[in-house]
Amino acid sequence: MCGIIGIVGSGEVTAHLVEGLRRLEYRGYDSAGVCTINNGALDRRRAEGKLDNLVNVLAAEPLIGHIGIAHTRWATHGAPTTNNAHPHATAEVSLVHNGIIENFKPLRDELIARGRTFESQTDSEVVAHLISERIEAGDMPEIATAAILKRLHGAFALAILFRQYPDLLIGARLGSPLVVGYGDDATYLGSDALALASFTQRVAYLEEGDWVVVTRDGARIFDAQDRPVEREVTISGVTGAYIDKGNYRHFMLKEIFEQPVVVAQTLQSYIKPLDGQVALPIPDFALSSIQRITIIACGTSYYAGMVAKYWLEQFARVAVEIDVASEYRYREPVMEEGGLALFISQSGETADTLAAMRHAKAGGQKVAVVVNVPTSSMAREADLLLPTHAGTEIGVASTKAFTCQLAVLAALAANLARAKGRLSAEQERDIVTHLAEAPAALNMALQQDEPIQAISAIIAGARDVLYLGRGPDYPLALEGALKLKEISYIHAEGYAAGEMKHGPIALIDDLVPVIVLAPSGPLFEKTVSNMQEVQARGGKIVLISDATGVAAAGEDCLATITMPDVHPLIAPIVYAIPVQLLAYHIAAIKGTDVDQPRNLAKSVTVE
Ligand code: AGP
Repeated sequence: MCGIIGIVGSGEVTAHLVEGLRRLEYRGYDSAGVCTINNGALDRRRAEGKLDNLVNVLAAEPLIGHIGIAHTRWATHGAPTTNNAHPHATAEVSLVHNGIIENFKPLRDELIARGRTFESQTDSEVVAHLISERIEAGDMPEIATAAILKRLHGAFALAILFRQYPDLLIGARLGSPLVVGYGDDATYLGSDALALASFTQRVAYLEEGDWVVVTRDGARIFDAQDRPVEREVTISGVTGAYIDKGNYRHFMLKEIFEQPVVVAQTLQSYIKPLDGQVALPIPDFALSSIQRITIIACGTSYYAGMVAKYWLEQFARVAVEIDVASEYRYREPVMEEGGLALFISQSGETADTLAAMRHAKAGGQKVAVVVNVPTSSMAREADLLLPTHAGTEIGVASTKAFTCQLAVLAALAANLARAKGRLSAEQERDIVTHLAEAPAALNMALQQDEPIQAISAIIAGARDVLYLGRGPDYPLALEGALKLKEISYIHAEGYAAGEMKHGPIALIDDLVPVIVLAPSGPLFEKTVSNMQEVQARGGKIVLISDATGVAAAGEDCLATITMPDVHPLIAPIVYAIPVQLLAYHIAAIKGTDVDQPRNLAKSVTVE
């Protein structure tokens, strides 16, 4: 998603701006640009596509200046062309914008009626013109910006340069995050602390409606009512060290292989294996009175929530409702006073989830969040914080964050069951023992990497792929299909195995591989019956099961993938590995951009 960096310093800033953009690359983008003030004029360079294209433009036409803004754009309004790339500028004002200005159309019409001309199709350019008009009429930057911010509907993080004021940068946020960074001889703006990691760890997170006047010596922050406010300066903890791929070809593969370690790291904060107890970093009392939980998330995090629904209902006997965030907020959900709304997010900045979270809070819900980025908006705004410790996830396709989410959610289900008196000490010890086995089981699952690579070569030519699973492995089927779509661009669907005969079975022929997730356990036989329905129609099955399951049902399959024998509780955590590896290898064989697949963004900060 779009990324912002702004610097007011004493030395040349262009190289630093590009360095900041490099750190934001993982978010996904399709064009980039930089603007500085040089010799009393705004000077811009922009390029379509990868950051290297912008670097080439800068090499041919260098930019100088000690103040500047830069941006990576993920297209919303207008194609990813150079003209639509940020910064957008008039003769007086240049700005970069994350988010969406929802009322841009009437604003643009109004500006055109006053004779202004536009060079892009973006919503962002209207903001540059609106502020510019006020500057041209003689307003100071603070006055002009404060007035125009009140006219904007939607979501924005902005960084604005003013031609006549070469020592001043203005930032503003509503809905999209913006961070002020305090350096020794420079002050920064960034869309997240990671963008500023090479320069400073001393950051202040702007709050909703805040705007800020940034100079080399510091920053003056104002709230939505234009009152001066203080925002706490914290140490981000994000170091300047580059996260590299090590010996792996892609970040995604590295992150898949990190899972035994990061799941163990996460579980450390949630279980005490020696005592046989779960131990959440939140107090028990918050849980015992809960009768109903609503889980809200997007994408892969939503599928983690779907798995959690099975666990929470099975162990704690609490009714669980689940919704994708973009639907929850607009369907007028019934919110019982004091109900628990549980949000799940890797980034903690997904606009749909964040908006749903605020909506739930406003509706009197207690808000818990399972989140991977500890400095994110969701982490800061939650009543109950349940962190995952997956470390920075760079690959756009989420992998290690998912399994860490599952680990936390399983511990939460057990903790809730205990708080409600529905779990004996012996049952709790049992759950903790199985959870503690997850890292080793993940390691064993990873040993199947080579056979999975060989199977991937067979599937890579398919046009459509189906994934089937039952119970908590049904969300895994959905996750497998999502992973494959995201990075290999092969059309894939996940189905509850028993639901296939109600329609999707019409798709079955010998060209559609059907990947079946069927660990041994209470649902195995049922899933095998559904496999037979596929095979009876010439369908080609890839069975993912344990040795017992493969021995029982693997005979007529196109291929089998053998997972370690695990307790059904941790099967969704362990079976994530083969679905991730299949998607990865198929994409690698097809030669797609695995870490930054087309059209996708790591953290989707627009609704
Ligand atoms: C996962 O592979 C996706 N890139 C995407 O579905 C992601 O899970 C979704 O956008 C939610 O993101 P979040 O967990 O950061 O909120």
